[in-house]
Parts: sequence; C-alpha cells; structure tokens
Amino acid sequence: MNRTSNFLGGVFAMGCTLVFLSGAALAHGDVVPQAVDTEGLKSLPEGEWLDENPYRGNKQAIEIGSSAYGQNCARCHGLEAVSGGIAPDLRELGPEYDDYFIGKVRGGVQRNGMTYMPAFEGTLSQDAMWAIRAYIDKRHYEYNDKDLAKLYEQAEDGS
Ligand code: HEC
Repeated sequence: MNRTSNFLGGVFAMGCTLVFLSGAALAHGDVVPQAVDTEGLKSLPEGEWLDENPYRGNKQAIEIGSSAYGQNCARCHGLEAVSGGIAPDLRELGPEYDDYFIGKVRGGVQRNGMTYMPAFEGTLSQDAMWAIRAYIDKRHYEYNDKDLAKLYEQAEDGS
C-alpha cells in the first residue's frame, strides 16, 4: 500500500506551493506540539506500539482526537481533515491503514533533509495518537457516507 508515491505526483505538480509553504514554516520557526489530555481513555503502554486502533468507535476518544487533531494536524491536513492540497486528505485512510497511520505520526516524513511532516513520537502519547486516529475514522465514515452507528458499535466498551 504505497500511498506516498501517489501523493508525490500531486506534490510535484504543486512544487511552487510547497516551496513557498516550507519557507513560511521556517520563517515561523518550530510550531510547538500541543499537549493532549487523554484522561478517561483506557491508557496504553508507552513504548509498546499497537498496530490497530484500540479506540475505534469510542465517542470520548473521537472528541479528544478532534481537538488534538485541530491543534496538531489541521494546519497542514486541513480543518476537519478536509485537505487544502498541501498534505494528503486523511479521510481516505480506512481502518486497514492503522499501522501505516501510526508509523507516519510517530516518525513524520523526512526526505532529502527536508521535514515534510514533523515526528510526533516523544511529544504526543500513544493514547493521543490513537484518539486522533479515532477522529479520522469518523471523518472517513462521513466522507464515504458510511453509517456512523456501525462505527460506534465497534467501541470496545460500548461507550
Ligand atoms: C507541517 C505540516 C504537517 C503537520 C503538522 C502534520 N502533517 Fe501529516 N503529512 C504532511 C505531509 C506534507 C505529508 C505527505 C508527506 C509525503 O510527501 O509523503 C503528510 C503525511 C501524513 C500521513 C500519510 C498520509 C497518506 O495518505 O499517505 C499521515 C497518516 C499523516 N500525515 C498524519 C498526520 C497527523 C495525524 C498529524 C497530526 C498529529 C499530522 N500528520 C501533522 C504534513 C503535515
């Protein structure tokens, strides 16, 4: 599942925008990642990485993830995960992309000495990352007109 290369075509097509964007990012310095309060969610072990979302369908996780997404991801991936074209549209990532998702969020994306996306490992907890994933699951359902009740049914604790 190589989504990166598909996306790259778009990036090259918009080369000018991207160069402008990275200049702007440098000018503003590093953006400090925002702490995420995940209290109330089942806490996950740090350092032992899961490859599947343990919070899928959990409404509280979706709410926490929505705010964490807004603070940490929206500036590149767009408000409510609707891409403005500078970074991939995350609503396309169905549940089969959990492992891919967590890998990207942990490590970010660097190429040729450029940081396209910052690494979040060490600044966001595993709990926070999966809460964001839970929110993106919801946006994926909405984007594809899938029945949200079916998503909420998957919550482990039925919440
Ligand atoms: C500074 C801008 C920036 C920020 C902030 C950012 N990303 Fe990204 N992200 C990107 C770019 C650009 C790519 C595409 C990189 C490439 O060329 O492969 C990307 C790729 C991804 C991918 C792979 C998507 C795909 O379809 O291949 C995921 C998943 C992702 N980001 C999740 C996140 C999440 C979750 C957050 C917030 C915790 C976040 N990103 C924050 C810029 C950003």
